[in-house]
Amino acid sequence: MSNYHIKHLEEYYQVYRKSVANPELFWEEIAEEHFMWRRKWDKILSWDFSKPSIKWFEGAQLNITENCIDRHLLARGNKTAILFEPNDPKEKAQHITYNELHKKVCKFANVLKNKGIVKGDRVCIYLPMIPELAIAVLACARIGAIHSVVFAGFSSTALASRINDSECKMVITSDGSYRGTKTIDLKGIVDEALKECSCVKTVLVVKRINSNIIMEEGRDYLLQPELDQAPTICKAEIMNAEDALFILYTSGSTGQPKGMVHTTAGYLVYTAYTFKNVFQYREEDVYWCTADIGWITGHSYIVYGPLANGATTVMFEGVPSYPNFGRFWDIVEKHKVTQFYTAPTAIRALAKEGLTHLEKYDLSSLKVLGTVGEPINEEAWHWYDDNVGKKKAPIVDTWWQTETGGIMITPIPYATPTKPTYATLPFPGVQPALINENGEEIKENQVDGRLCIKFPWPSMARTIWGNHQRYKDTYFSAFENKYFTGDGALRDEVGYYRITGRVDDVIIVSGHNLGTAPIEDAINEHPAVAESAIVGFPHDIKGNALYGYVTLKEAGEGRNHDNLRKEINQIITEQIGPIAKLDKIQFTSGLPKTRSGKIMRRILRKIAHKDTSNLGDISTLLNPEVVNDIMNNTV
Ligand code: PRX
Repeated sequence: MSNYHIKHLEEYYQVYRKSVANPELFWEEIAEEHFMWRRKWDKILSWDFSKPSIKWFEGAQLNITENCIDRHLLARGNKTAILFEPNDPKEKAQHITYNELHKKVCKFANVLKNKGIVKGDRVCIYLPMIPELAIAVLACARIGAIHSVVFAGFSSTALASRINDSECKMVITSDGSYRGTKTIDLKGIVDEALKECSCVKTVLVVKRINSNIIMEEGRDYLLQPELDQAPTICKAEIMNAEDALFILYTSGSTGQPKGMVHTTAGYLVYTAYTFKNVFQYREEDVYWCTADIGWITGHSYIVYGPLANGATTVMFEGVPSYPNFGRFWDIVEKHKVTQFYTAPTAIRALAKEGLTHLEKYDLSSLKVLGTVGEPINEEAWHWYDDNVGKKKAPIVDTWWQTETGGIMITPIPYATPTKPTYATLPFPGVQPALINENGEEIKENQVDGRLCIKFPWPSMARTIWGNHQRYKDTYFSAFENKYFTGDGALRDEVGYYRITGRVDDVIIVSGHNLGTAPIEDAINEHPAVAESAIVGFPHDIKGNALYGYVTLKEAGEGRNHDNLRKEINQIITEQIGPIAKLDKIQFTSGLPKTRSGKIMRRILRKIAHKDTSNLGDISTLLNPEVVNDIMNNTV
């Protein structure tokens, strides 16, 4: 029996059982049958979570772009690989075939080489959702350079810290980007960032909006003239299975963002296999994931997973509201999209607009709907099911993380009966565990606990760039011999999982992970601010929004609060990006602290949630009097 394509529930259980009984054999069979190896492995898996050290397919050699492009050329060279839908619906969509993609990636890879990039170098990619973004990613992989894509909504400060953390030698950017009616000066942001980055020797600039940009001689090059001179063939660098493929930064609850490192073979095998099954992908399908390639969802399920299966993957440059809230449905109809994968925050924003836009379009091509990034509420789930899928396209609520590389808990559409707000069952090869307060695994059903994974899977991140100790401390120290996800979950009577949300100080706003510490650090830089604490509170569209409690220095007292609020959000925008702006800012006389000086966020969270009936024991606080003051002055 081939395990590669699961089509019904019994088959799922059979495959799942096999994947747990003998994981090595299970993954070996999948790896053996479906990929292009330059050399086969000596050992499928070696692991030790106490170090932690995880190695898959050791000894194997491959190049991921040969798997994503070259091997499709014979069978589907003229098939569309990337279908680019521009921001402006009047601009023509672009169909890039596998043949063309091959040429474009090779040329781009040759430009990288020409500019001195070699295997192992880090290249930062700061681009909008245009084909060059996917091509740049693949070009790096072609020559073994490690890409570090930074979402093009991050500020220059956030960009600079990511470039410096992984010492990137090159930045690939564009003159600017389109987002709805706006243009954004990306090159200006890069120039600003690079004042702080001595490691960057070269900047490649894609022309997208034809704006006037300043080019620094000897450092900045327009991409097109370089491509024009580059040969169309570029031999793929042969990589070891465990060579780093990319770094992608994700927020932690404290400190700087963590550069999660993903390696080559395991990531390829897992993203390809999950893509095939979670989206029930078939050859003639047109698959669309609305994420940005700046996030893991875009890496795994716009670029690598779909292309490894020879799929047609849609890349959309714009926003759901431009030129109006019918845009997503217009694209579905126009390109006859079969799988549509988006985030709960987008679903809620679209649901709020009612059905007038949606009803104008033919959505009958849709076979599978996906959601990812945060818990989906029941109302949004039903709206999606009723109106977009017309109850005929199953919803896959896919739970996973930047760190996991691929989808971990999910229904298999047309096999797993769905249940609103439940991510349902672990994907084959994934062994979840719920852990109670005493650190013990809870075996029975109908319980909740902290979600851990107790056995390695091929696409797990291997380390944090430059800080293996932090990797160990964050993920492998809470519970012995288990990967701790940072999420809470409950398991129902049939073993379905429902993710209840973060149990640490990470807050998910519109599907974006935001750590509280960097935002607080930014606020505290305001000269009038003494101290601050951020918590999340429920928001109709964003899922969570940010609530900031800010204590002013003496010098700040008497200043106009509205002006201060604007200035604080301006600092956050500059330091992190507009996604981290606070919805509410309350000025307080103090923050509730424990006797050891720790801010009691639990209390602040309850107040922001307007749930003050039971604040728990506050007698241990150093300054219990501030609690009343805060409660009486909420915004
Ligand atoms: O809390 C979980 C939430 O998003 C976190 C991971 O965020 P990030 O690394 O940015 O990756 C997002 C895209 C994979 C998780 O720890 N999360 C993700 N998917 C779901 C979810 N929460 C509930 N349901 C989901 N389907």
